[in-house]
Amino acid sequence: MSQLAHSAPWQALTADAAQLRTRHLRELFAVDGDRYAQFSLQHGQLLLDFSKQRICEQTLTHLHALAGVAGITGWQQRMRSGELINHTEKRAVRHMDLRAGDAAPAEVKAVLARIEAFCERIHSAEWRGFSGERITDVVNIGIGGSDLGPRMAVQALSACQQPDLRVHFVANLDGADLAGTLASLNPRSTLFIVASKTFTTLETMRNARTARDWLLAVAGDASAVARHFVAASTNLRATGEFGIAPENVFEFWDWVGGRFSLWSAIGLPIALAIGFGHFRQLLAGAHDLDQHFFSAPPASNLPLTMALLTLWNTDFLGAASHGVFPYSHSLELLPDYLQQLEMESNGKQVDRDGKIIGMPTCPILWGTAGTNGQHSYFQLLHQGGQVVASDFITLARADFPLAGHHPGLLANCLAQSAALAFGQTAEEAQANGADASLLPYRTFPGNQPSSTLILPELSPFTLGQLLALYEHKVFCLGVLWNLNSFDQWGVELGKYLAGKLTPLLAGDGDDATLDASTRGLIAHLRQFS
Ligand code: F6P
Repeated sequence: MSQLAHSAPWQALTADAAQLRTRHLRELFAVDGDRYAQFSLQHGQLLLDFSKQRICEQTLTHLHALAGVAGITGWQQRMRSGELINHTEKRAVRHMDLRAGDAAPAEVKAVLARIEAFCERIHSAEWRGFSGERITDVVNIGIGGSDLGPRMAVQALSACQQPDLRVHFVANLDGADLAGTLASLNPRSTLFIVASKTFTTLETMRNARTARDWLLAVAGDASAVARHFVAASTNLRATGEFGIAPENVFEFWDWVGGRFSLWSAIGLPIALAIGFGHFRQLLAGAHDLDQHFFSAPPASNLPLTMALLTLWNTDFLGAASHGVFPYSHSLELLPDYLQQLEMESNGKQVDRDGKIIGMPTCPILWGTAGTNGQHSYFQLLHQGGQVVASDFITLARADFPLAGHHPGLLANCLAQSAALAFGQTAEEAQANGADASLLPYRTFPGNQPSSTLILPELSPFTLGQLLALYEHKVFCLGVLWNLNSFDQWGVELGKYLAGKLTPLLAGDGDDATLDASTRGLIAHLRQFS
């Protein structure tokens, strides 16, 4: 069990939880009419309302005391000073340097300048394909951190989309992904970005080779690769071996974790999609949040507050699941992106000392854009009997202001968090006209904890703030659970086994050492080959 669990604040929180488990949010709001003012924070125009969390002032005090015991400030300094806090991979964690503006390291500025020049060449149509056609389509081939962040950001900022250029994303090893994308594209006017930190990832390399064959089948000459393939990678040797010219490789460094890499050359598809000026604003928004995180006192520190609330919900109130509901269609892919950011970072049970943590760490994160989710799984949140903590995220001003849409969207966002928090008693249901025989079905227990984040609008700057907010939340949780948020050993075993099974599926090799289930499945599949 983690050291923290033996600390005085942890013991105090255990007592708080015993009390608060029996109290309803209705009661907490009834006894304290000032809850909103007390439990909301603002940074610039970014608002976090956490008054609908099942906490009281004392809980918050104890949570902050816990953060003190865990040494958040010390870990912030260790990260900022470049210490190798990703200890299992012996790497620093410096993605903040990628968005530090004038204070960024020279090598970061140099790559940004190259990205800017490249965007200019593509947008102005100075860069041409092998047959002289301008580039109309860009396909980013990458997976995990080399896909989810850029894919989400390009979608989120589609209001800033550059004219005459479409940006596509291919990630899956399943040929349906690449084939479906290529079906509508012309090799003469398509540019591929092979995005891979390691440049060894199975899915990405398979897709990149197939895309290269698709190009060469039309171009007929290997020299066309230089006009149609660029790379974002730390592995310059492998990009060269693939045939990508050194001047077409946008470099980044091992101190940029994959899921923290959209600020690096991995952000190239974002810069191409929304223009380099907007990309800079995205970086500036994240930098602004970095400064907040490193300078705001704990009580007004947004990422730290969000982390403490997640710890509280997970380890004290038993919420094993965390819903993220962006009431912004443009932020539709945010939950997918956050799944990797949070679960690959903190879904671990071994601490920094190699010991079992022995308590739940990262909750299972999921969600979709509102209002769609309301017509799907919200039933369970309202009446399914499980504690699910949620983040509602919305925009004060719409990015696509069609008349009559946004007020309804906002009303639904606020209505859902209120319904989850306060529920509906049988008396209220009756007063609202429910038939007496249906009262058990029309009663809502409520008491589901949630926070609401409101962005003034969705711009590159506010998106940068939002993403950095979650990044630092993840960092704080890693410190609280005393785990390394920056490695991902848990994904390796499956990759290794897939490598062993691939030849067996082709009938090559001996499957005698396999378990009976896998052996049976392989035998079944081989009947179709
Ligand atoms: O398999 C997990 C992972 O290593 C992620 O952490 C990473 O974002 C993804 O694969 C892709 O890695 P790469 O950018 O090296 O292709």
